[in-house]
Amino acid sequence: MDIINMPAHVGIIMDGNGRWATARGLSRTEGHKEGANAVRRIITHARRSGVKVLTLYAFSTENWSRPQAEVSAIMEMVGKYLSKETSTMVENGIRMRLIGDKSRFSKSLLGVIEHSEELTSDKEDMLLQIALNYGGRDELVRAAKKIASLVAEGTISPSDITEKLISDNLDTKGAMDCDLIIRTGGEKRTSNFLMWQGAYSELYFSDVLWPDFDEDEFDRAMQFFSQRQRRFGGIK
Ligand code: IPE
Ligand code: IPE
Ligand code: MG
Repeated sequence: MDIINMPAHVGIIMDGNGRWATARGLSRTEGHKEGANAVRRIITHARRSGVKVLTLYAFSTENWSRPQAEVSAIMEMVGKYLSKETSTMVENGIRMRLIGDKSRFSKSLLGVIEHSEELTSDKEDMLLQIALNYGGRDELVRAAKKIASLVAEGTISPSDITEKLISDNLDTKGAMDCDLIIRTGGEKRTSNFLMWQGAYSELYFSDVLWPDFDEDEFDRAMQFFSQRQRRFGGIK
């Protein structure tokens, strides 16, 4: 596909796994399982399309309110996914990092995550950020705590607090702002995703349920993005 103006950083709110499963008489967990296949498909396609940063919203800080069995199933699936896919990521030059509060993960999941982050740490073709136990507000709270400590210990003074300093204390440190946020599943909201990094994101809402999301629908989002005129507050 020839798109002149590709977004460098694409964020995806992968919504609709539950409804996809329910419509087929399957359990919600089956929907998440099928969702993992869409994840694989889209990572490959995004990288081939020249996306530099891909951020996938897998589990929000609010998703803990779901039944415990569903929460465990999702966490387990992420662990399995990383165990299985890390070598492919290495082959394809993909660096993986997890964004979100890692303090609530089990020891074994944390081990898998850190192993995957380590094995892919020198890869540069695409940065894959998996947002797990991620909330934009929580990320800002954790950044505020880190910055407050620096002030308290006298390393910096309040006047040193800049947008750059805040960016550098977020989980996404070093990655460019998000150019395009895609949300599947028909809802038109951002549900606490990339609040800071998405300040000027273009928004693409798709009715496709995440397990059905494919290369063609991704390309439609790219087409949509390429037709936007980004002004960042200025005038054309
Ligand atoms: C998105 O699908 C995946 C997660 C939030 C973990 P949902 O599980 O929210 O699916 P729906 O919205 O109920 O269909
Ligand atoms: C957003 O989906 C979070 C993820 C995709 C991980 P939700 O299904 O949790 O969002 P709401 O509850 O509809 O806003
Ligand atoms: Mg949902």
